Amino acid sequence: MNDATITAAIDYIQDLFRGNSGGHDAEHSLRVYRNALLIADGEPGCDTEIVALAALLHDADDHKLFHTENNANARSFLTAQKVAPEKIKRICEAINAVSFSQNRGKRPETLEGKIVQDADRLDALGAIGIARTFAYGGEHGRSLDESVAHFHEKLLLLKDELNTETARILAEPRHALLVRFLEEYEKESSLK
Ligand code: NI
Repeated sequence: MNDATITAAIDYIQDLFRGNSGGHDAEHSLRVYRNALLIADGEPGCDTEIVALAALLHDADDHKLFHTENNANARSFLTAQKVAPEKIKRICEAINAVSFSQNRGKRPETLEGKIVQDADRLDALGAIGIARTFAYGGEHGRSLDESVAHFHEKLLLLKDELNTETARILAEPRHALLVRFLEEYEKESSLK
């Protein structure tokens, strides 16, 4: 794995997401990167460099933040880094496999895509998932109850939609924390 490219990718996303907070910031991409490496460790046969770069760049062309087509941000970064065109193609395929809304019910075709999608989903679970949901809800003027509905509509379903066994194991305590949080939330909300 080319460490200089990884370091440059970390710098690049820190620049790119400057000024963003809540759900989609550089910290999210860094957590997805670390989750992805953890999963990759348990999934022999994957190309770790593709996993790492796809994880770091997975939101670089997110349509909610950027008005780019065809992974333009990720592509121009990788091209400037002199990453081979064939590798850029595989990185972009893995990035495009990630999006929950676009890929509902569809499994990524490559192992690298599966790993990065799982890594992104892990970041929607656990304590971080709870924090991100309310940060996003606040940004979009949602009440606490409206944010809580998002747990039921999306987050609680994620553990059964993971691709890899390694991610399923990592997801268990995170899912359990969501369930426990919701129990407490309901209890405190209904205090008379
Ligand atoms: Ni993401």
